[in-house]
Amino acid sequence: MINVITKSLLFLLLLNIHFIQIESKFQRVCYLRVDSSQRIDAQTINGSLCTHIILGFADIVNGTVGPHQPNDVLYYQNVTQLKTNFTDLKIMLSVGGGGSDGSGFHQICSNQTNIDRFVSSVMDLLLKYNFDGLDIDWEFPAWNTPYPQDKYTFTQLLKSLNIQFERQLNRVDNRRQLLLSCAVSAIINVADAAYDMPEMAKYVDFVNVMSYDFHEFTPFWPFTGYNSPLYGRKVEKTYFTFLNTNRSVNHWVTLGMSKEKIMVGIPTYGHSYQLASTEHTGPDSAAIAQLQDMTYTQICALLRNTSTHSYFDAEAKVPYLVSGDLWVSYDDSTSVALKAQWIRDNSFGGSMTFDLNTDDYHYK
Ligand SMILES: *[C@@H]1O[C@H](CO)[C@@H](O)[C@H](O)[C@H]1NC(C)=O
Ligand SMILES: *[C@@H]1O[C@H](CO)[C@@H](O)[C@H](O)[C@H]1NC(C)=O
Ligand SMILES: *[C@@H]1O[C@H](CO)[C@@H](O)[C@H](O)[C@H]1NC(C)=O
Ligand SMILES: *[C@@H]1O[C@H](CO)[C@@H](O)[C@H](O)[C@H]1NC(C)=O
Ligand SMILES: *[C@@H]1O[C@H](CO)[C@@H](O)[C@H](O)[C@H]1NC(C)=O
Ligand SMILES: *[C@@H]1O[C@H](CO)[C@@H](O)[C@H](O)[C@H]1NC(C)=O
Ligand SMILES: *[C@@H]1O[C@H](CO)[C@@H](O)[C@H](O)[C@H]1NC(C)=O
Repeated sequence: MINVITKSLLFLLLLNIHFIQIESKFQRVCYLRVDSSQRIDAQTINGSLCTHIILGFADIVNGTVGPHQPNDVLYYQNVTQLKTNFTDLKIMLSVGGGGSDGSGFHQICSNQTNIDRFVSSVMDLLLKYNFDGLDIDWEFPAWNTPYPQDKYTFTQLLKSLNIQFERQLNRVDNRRQLLLSCAVSAIINVADAAYDMPEMAKYVDFVNVMSYDFHEFTPFWPFTGYNSPLYGRKVEKTYFTFLNTNRSVNHWVTLGMSKEKIMVGIPTYGHSYQLASTEHTGPDSAAIAQLQDMTYTQICALLRNTSTHSYFDAEAKVPYLVSGDLWVSYDDSTSVALKAQWIRDNSFGGSMTFDLNTDDYHYK
């Protein structure tokens, strides 16, 4: 039992997606955060677990791309050096992120002069540090802003990046060298407002659908809910029926993104809540607050405590745990295996794991 709960989610994903079909066409995209507080020593990363590592996050500085901290470039160098040992591994840089507001992107997209200046700074940074491409994490164009036109100006930015990337050919085989991806919302109203599909689909190599954070505690909705359910539950109605991986990712297909360009998000972190009462401990139970997200390592430690009880939701296909008045929604070996199987069965492009930093590495 201990063996199962301490296996790295990423390792399990690999087992389920890759080993079953040895000549795998599935991409395994992994986000890696630079943040010094949870930084992983680059040399300890097993580069065969991922096909793509996306290193985040770079910032927009005065309309150009730049490192969040000047010293981050030392880590960029260490991470891109992984390619010497893992020759098929692609390493991309992500700009933006959930922690940044979208004002920098909005400004860049306001005219072609600004776009060209940004694109040129991207080319410089990517080539200087030997990256294989750029990931744009703008959360989110035209969403909660007075700028609905950003849905279209964003496409213009992607088009301009794509044109420059087309021109950058690999010296060895004369093939296109740089990839372009976007981290995108799984929430259907955001996706409808923010992205100009199928135009966007022409310019990106793939999108990383953030199929997590589906349920959050708010004072208006103070209830427990799953972070990343694969399916909805029968009790859910109307809008709530879309707050799961299956319905939201299929919505992306409906909007016009081709399946092989869709990477399905799988979180290695959990959402935790403080319960209002220890008598009501399922999903939709009254909660007092949402607590800090937990890493899979912290969750594994909780699961080893005999006073923790874990349950698996047969409809949503994700587990949750209860420990006193602590309630945690997370992913485990079973839910990751089911998501991997769903990705394969539905012929999506692959998986996106967020992130390497919060996975557990105590597996044997
Ligand atoms: C490549 O692998 C060798 C042997 O395992 C190791 O000593 C070296 O540090 C690795 N290089 C990088 C850049 O990770
Ligand atoms: C890295 O992962 C591969 C699976 O792709 C595994 O076979 C190998 O043993 C791992 N290497 C290390 C050093 O853990
Ligand atoms: C921002 O970029 C513009 C155009 O290159 C330059 O003129 C200006 O000095 C820069 N401002 C800062 C604060 O770096
Ligand atoms: C980069 O790797 C070297 C070892 O090759 C290590 O000494 C250094 O601390 C690393 N720097 C960062 C920022 O990770
Ligand atoms: C583009 O926008 C910038 C401000 O972000 C402005 O300084 C510049 O004049 C604009 N250029 C054109 C051609 O409109
Ligand atoms: C998965 O999504 C599809 C398309 O939206 C839907 O038809 C199907 O019923 C969903 N499956 C489950 C088990 O909810
Ligand atoms: C196990 O959990 C209980 C209840 O939350 C806590 O009081 C106890 O300290 C934990 N034990 C360990 C070994 O962490």
